[in-house]
Amino acid sequence: MKNTFDGKTIWITGASSGIGEALALELANNKTHLILSARRLNELERVAASCRKSECKCSIYPIDLSDPQNVEAVADRVISEVGRIDMLFNNGGISQRSYVIDTPVEVDRKIMEIDYFSGVILTKKVLPGMLKSGFGHIIAISSITGLFGFPLRSGYAAAKHALHGFYETLWAELHEKGINVTVVSPGRVRTNVSLEAITASGKPHGIMDHGQDSGLSAEACAHKILIAVHRRKVMANIVGREWLMIFFKKFMPFIFYRLVSKVQPT
Ligand SMILES: NC(=O)c1ccc[n+]([C@@H]2O[C@H](COP(=O)([O-])OP(=O)(O)OC[C@H]3O[C@@H](n4cnc5c(N)ncnc54)[C@H](OP(=O)(O)O)[C@@H]3O)[C@@H](O)[C@H]2O)c1
Repeated sequence: MKNTFDGKTIWITGASSGIGEALALELANNKTHLILSARRLNELERVAASCRKSECKCSIYPIDLSDPQNVEAVADRVISEVGRIDMLFNNGGISQRSYVIDTPVEVDRKIMEIDYFSGVILTKKVLPGMLKSGFGHIIAISSITGLFGFPLRSGYAAAKHALHGFYETLWAELHEKGINVTVVSPGRVRTNVSLEAITASGKPHGIMDHGQDSGLSAEACAHKILIAVHRRKVMANIVGREWLMIFFKKFMPFIFYRLVSKVQPT
């Protein structure tokens, strides 16, 4: 995989923990320039310090993905200070734990801003430089909840479904001009995602759900993501037993609809 990542300038959002941190740490083993973004500066510094023990160069650009003006401003700064971005991992995001009936639309908008629009803004900012150089790779971290709806995750599922439409279109429009696109749909991965998931009150869920706790490690997930990027896959599902739900939804929807309405949501 070295040839794919060596010499590349790679921007990772959500790099302060979980899958984003694991992506940074694995990519650091290549001669890359990593741009690490998230809100928590101290956590970004911790990740950057680990990355710098390997071969890479590392720069930190804090960002608040919920604030489109901040996302635009940070993107402008990165492009003027760093130059062209070769790969963008739109990874930063939050999940949700609240029923449709209880969820104020402000919560839906916030999820949409973080999980969908922030990546759209960053993509549009880095694309001109990629097109000029004739190469670029944009990676959107979706979820299996981007492939089917699931209780307690209406806004999250909506934002992740939206990613598929946007990035599949981007690929169709620009892959012949050297722009690669990979949409990744992980199943459950052991990270802070359920602890940080937004509830109807706007506060974090604060619980490590059993599904996440028993999920794939962030490191294993990141490794599989990088293999998919190396192979220039347009869509990549990173799943264990969750493959059954994807299979039922696609080929036996009547079973999917029976199962998804009976599931004990956590
Ligand atoms: N874990 C899973 O089971 C799973 C499954 C499918 C898909 N995913 C997706 O994987 C991606 C990474 O999540 P994770 O599992 O690694 O969870 P995580 O450990 O909670 O990481 C989420 C990352 O997003 C950042 N982030 C959250 N809100 C932000 C904001 N407003 N502005 C800037 N950065 C923000 C966080 O950084 P700060 O708090 O420092 O800002 C953190 O670095 C997400 O898109 C998630 O939807 C996860």
